[in-house]
Amino acid sequence: MLLVCPACRHVDEAGLQLCTLDLHGAERVCAGCGVAFPVQDGICVIGRDPAALIAFAERPETLETVAVYQRSTRGPLQDWLRETVPSGALELGGGLGVRTDTVLLDQNLAMLRASRNGLRVCADLLDPPFAPESFEAVVLANVLDSVGDPVLAFQQAIALIAPGGVLIVSCAFAFRGEITSEDRWFTSEQLARGFGAVDAGCLHVASMGALEWPLQVTERLTHVHRCDALVFLKR
Ligand SMILES: C[S@@+](CC[C@H](N)C(=O)[O-])C[C@H]1O[C@@H](n2cnc3c(N)ncnc32)[C@H](O)[C@@H]1O
Ligand SMILES: [Zn+2]
Repeated sequence: MLLVCPACRHVDEAGLQLCTLDLHGAERVCAGCGVAFPVQDGICVIGRDPAALIAFAERPETLETVAVYQRSTRGPLQDWLRETVPSGALELGGGLGVRTDTVLLDQNLAMLRASRNGLRVCADLLDPPFAPESFEAVVLANVLDSVGDPVLAFQQAIALIAPGGVLIVSCAFAFRGEITSEDRWFTSEQLARGFGAVDAGCLHVASMGALEWPLQVTERLTHVHRCDALVFLKR
């Protein structure tokens, strides 16, 4: 898996400049700026404060969230994702992952530790450590309403897809003000238009309608979200 340093990425007169993060012992070190990111259980922890990401993964409430997702692998949305997501896809905010042969990126290290994927990276999906157009398929499953800047998340996902590739999205529109300020909440119609990219001819969209996503909160309580499920083709 080719990882690039988010801190060094920039555009100059020669175009986009990227530096790789190369494995040296228990760290990935940037070939450009020399910054080192820890690797734990095969998972590179990339962020301004890797120690905070590691500490977050130890908190009881974080481990409880992981347990909820471990109990919640079945349901109409989960089944659709399993059928639709191809091998080799990048799952952004992927949690435990739809399947085991994808690349998983999540900021929750505990979730990544609990997954069985070989390729996992703990990082910010708003600043992903990958080269543009390096995946045939990218997945944003139940993520756009979990980030501070959903449109940026969508644009970053599109930028990572090679032309002709697909973006697989599901969204429950379960926004919370403490995560996404209200002026950034969006509608089903805005999402279906790819925030303008479908009208501009950059994306083609196929909508699967609404699918139920059961989340088993405890043994006796299940929350069911109704999610829009969409596939965008990048032209
Ligand atoms: C609602 S969960 C969905 C998990 C998984 N995609 C699924 O459908 O089961 C949202 C996930 O996005 C991750 N996430 C939220 N903001 C993120 C960010 N900025 N960078 C990386 N992951 C993020 C969370 O840690 C969480 O695992
Ligand atoms: Zn760097």
